[in-house]
Amino acid sequence: MPSFTIGDADFLLDGEPHRILSGAIHYFRVHPDDWADRIRKARLMGLNAVETYVAWNAHEPVRGEWDATGANDLARFLDLVAAEGMHAMVRPGPYICAEWHNGGLPVWLTGMDGVGLRRSEPQYLEAVSGFLRRVYEIVVPRQIDRGGPVILVQIENEYGAYGDDADYLEELVRLTREAGVVVPLTTVDQPQPDMLRNGSLPTLHRTGSFGSQAAERLATLREHQPTGPLMCSEFWDGWFDWWGGAHHTTSAADSARELDTLLAAGASVNIYMFHGGTNSGLTNGANDKGRYLPITTSYDYDSPLDEAGDPTEKYEAFREVIARYSPVPAEAPAARADRPAFTVPLASTPVSMTDAVALAVEGCDEPPTFDQLGRSSGLVRYTASLPAGGVLVVGEVRDRAWVAVDGVRVGILSRTRHDRAIAVPAGDTVELLVEEQGRVNYADRLGEPKGLIGGVTLDGVPLRGWAAQPIDLDRLAASALSADAESAHGPVAGPAVLRTVFALAEATDLFLDTAGWGTGFAFVNGFALGRYAATGPQRTLYVPRPVVRAGENTLVVVELEAVIEPAASFVPGALLGDTEE
Ligand code: GLA
Repeated sequence: MPSFTIGDADFLLDGEPHRILSGAIHYFRVHPDDWADRIRKARLMGLNAVETYVAWNAHEPVRGEWDATGANDLARFLDLVAAEGMHAMVRPGPYICAEWHNGGLPVWLTGMDGVGLRRSEPQYLEAVSGFLRRVYEIVVPRQIDRGGPVILVQIENEYGAYGDDADYLEELVRLTREAGVVVPLTTVDQPQPDMLRNGSLPTLHRTGSFGSQAAERLATLREHQPTGPLMCSEFWDGWFDWWGGAHHTTSAADSARELDTLLAAGASVNIYMFHGGTNSGLTNGANDKGRYLPITTSYDYDSPLDEAGDPTEKYEAFREVIARYSPVPAEAPAARADRPAFTVPLASTPVSMTDAVALAVEGCDEPPTFDQLGRSSGLVRYTASLPAGGVLVVGEVRDRAWVAVDGVRVGILSRTRHDRAIAVPAGDTVELLVEEQGRVNYADRLGEPKGLIGGVTLDGVPLRGWAAQPIDLDRLAASALSADAESAHGPVAGPAVLRTVFALAEATDLFLDTAGWGTGFAFVNGFALGRYAATGPQRTLYVPRPVVRAGENTLVVVELEAVIEPAASFVPGALLGDTEE
């Protein structure tokens, strides 16, 4: 029976010292038809394992409605890793951070009255145990002792940066072991003494997360764990981007040097990310350490395999480093090729936001939150009667509101800019179209509710009598396809729903250029590509090959501000924005 254990100085595979050379691929950020391709390219770089988180909110967006099929088919993902002859490391969280919506926690959970996140609180633990039971039904039969690929399972995620509830960690371990997980259990923390102390238990194997100063970090890790293999479970070889910021890159040479240092020290590694992928749809997270910064749609991460699955300079550099320590297959993946470039006109449709309202409510004293409306993300249109003109003040706007009076736009309130007040003219109805731009995935604001928080006043007097209309974006995009469309000329004022049809000779990846558009969402053949925003840094949206086909394809654009030219251009490659240098 194959075995994987922790020895005095090494991981032991069937009793022999073994180095894990792993790369992170989040199955939930890659189209399932591309999983096999990305995994294979991990092997061709010289890796012997693939690591993934499990995104709870992708599997169970509605409580009790568990899905592990299609894009959520974790079993198939792990089987593909096995088919490539590689090992797998699974990190089920339940909190995963990962720049993912709500750090992976479902909104129905974080919105529960009195729930205690990431600690031993009964409501939270009850939900977590249900989740872990489901995940381990998939993982347990795929462990190495049963002939499967899984060699490691991680408990929580950088817990030492958040809490110090050892009972909570113990309970996660108990649930994991009881479900039949027999492989070694790890924790990951940034190598700082308090984090390493609080983030783990004596029964768990500590690993580190870092992207530089590898020698020092390993030394700190060693101080807190005198024996056992050294492992960097998140070797940060790039970084994520947020709307309004610069595009982050790290030099391939510097990253390769750090990797070399790690491997020379005998450490095992999980490269975070090997292939970053995409925050399709409404799945991106956000950070808020005083300023709210929503993560971009692209999660390219400047990783060795780019968002479209093409090898980069970093891929080559890492392959060379790995080859110094372990055999690397002679075969190399095909080099990047330009994708088709063409422009098609966009037509205007009469579809309006209110054509796809899901479950409207009326007569509320305060605007109900997204959470109270059962919406995890997207748009909610709030309206109230306006007694007079004046200054409208919102407790907190989460996250962006387009304000209109009697259908005429008067301005925007942006959480990122800390906007809370706006002068409105007299009129009958004030409308705030609120976008949830991504739930915070790190630190204390994890799980916070969205919408117009803390009520709204007009000249200091509470404004009451709110109606709320959640907008179903998928339905909106679908209605645009069946509506009559008129060709548009010149700029188009938002909110507007535009559409076009484009023909392809064959299925191929595409890069949709959003330059000249304001802010909104794009859909190809009904697949939600994600958000775009003129603020950048990201300018192109990646369209994965499996969502297009030879022949006719549709594109729908939901624009919330204004489109300068009613046209859609596809360009040969990704434009992810300017870097700071
Ligand atoms: C930490 C987390 C990851 C991710 C990275 C940054 O290490 O564990 O989930 O958020 O930071 O990309």
